[in-house]
Amino acid sequence: MAAQAQAQSIEVPTDAELLQAQADLWRHSLYYLSSMGLRCAVQLEIPTAIHRLGGVTSLPDLMSALSLPSCKLPFLHRLMHVLVTSGVFAADTDSESGVELYRLTPLSRILVEGVDAEEHHSQKYFVLGVTSPHCTEAALGLADWFKKDLEPPVPSPFEDMHGVPIFDERTALLDKDFDAVTNQGLAAHDNLGIATILRECGDLFMGLESLTDCCGGDGTTARAIVKAYPHIKCTVLDLPKVIDKVPTDGVITYVAGDLFHSIPSSQAMMLKLVLHFWSDEDCVRILTHCRKAIPPRDEGGKLIIIDIVVGPSLGPVMFEAQLLMDMLMMVNTRGGQRDENDWRKIFIKAGFTDYKIMKKLGARCVIEVYP
Ligand SMILES: C[S@@+](CC[C@H](N)C(=O)[O-])C[C@H]1O[C@@H](n2cnc3c(N)ncnc32)[C@H](O)[C@@H]1O
Repeated sequence: MAAQAQAQSIEVPTDAELLQAQADLWRHSLYYLSSMGLRCAVQLEIPTAIHRLGGVTSLPDLMSALSLPSCKLPFLHRLMHVLVTSGVFAADTDSESGVELYRLTPLSRILVEGVDAEEHHSQKYFVLGVTSPHCTEAALGLADWFKKDLEPPVPSPFEDMHGVPIFDERTALLDKDFDAVTNQGLAAHDNLGIATILRECGDLFMGLESLTDCCGGDGTTARAIVKAYPHIKCTVLDLPKVIDKVPTDGVITYVAGDLFHSIPSSQAMMLKLVLHFWSDEDCVRILTHCRKAIPPRDEGGKLIIIDIVVGPSLGPVMFEAQLLMDMLMMVNTRGGQRDENDWRKIFIKAGFTDYKIMKKLGARCVIEVYP
């Protein structure tokens, strides 16, 4: 009776709390419009247009660069207002003419297409992939997925809804274009920031004789490492469908295989942006294979992991970004982002004795793990 009476009563917020709560509710319920506004900007290629206009533009010039009908000018103004508020673009007013000018920010600069610079990897397809109908539909099915009692290994909401996993041989059967967009998005996402890692983490590679980049894709990371540290003998392991398309370059040894079966031996193993895709059980299997393919710690044997370590120490913005990346994994894959405790448990289960978080790089960390 007491519990029922309690359930029927509710603490009423103060007036100030109520008004704040309503505004917060608007923001949290409508953040999808912020994502869709970003998707729209990418689809219209606004970042590239501003870049081609010299990095700064008025709204009418932007309209004509995008070839949009003039009736849409007030609507583009409203879209740009939201995108400026969320930091995608910057705006200021020209002191002489009073005209409002839009500029690129670091965020929109990484969305510019068609720039041939070594450190530039346009993130256009990352945005288009994560905001795609297939991914947003999977997220819309989250509550139904939670209620289903599914046999382990539990399929992701994406797999449960669409009948095929993402980043799989079968994904193209669901939608060829979606598969292509997500693969391009993944490559762009993974290649962003290699130069930063090399600049910030020289200690990782100094004195290293050999390195296997497990799941190293087309070898972009390995080539950058060998360019900076030519003494390192670098091997890239990836699936045959990936390795078969990589032209031999005489610098990197490319091995087609499966990291669940055999990993080429080296002094160090690198797993960059790989483990968050896999379940804890799969990570233990992968890391056990890695441990067997490296020498003992006193001979320089080590594992280099570059991935997110979820935690609030980097501040609320990075923490939110990490948690959203975890939700992205939960909705679309069987993996997830991990906190330090989760990582430690996996290292110990795979037979490693110690680890050190070497460096924090944005929302990610570089971890050395020792046999
Ligand atoms: C997220 S990407 C890795 C990114 C890469 N390490 C980088 O930082 O650029 C995942 C890669 O794992 C590869 N992969 C997936 N399953 C694999 C397996 N069982 N064995 C080897 N490679 C695999 C994929 O082909 C893909 O290239």
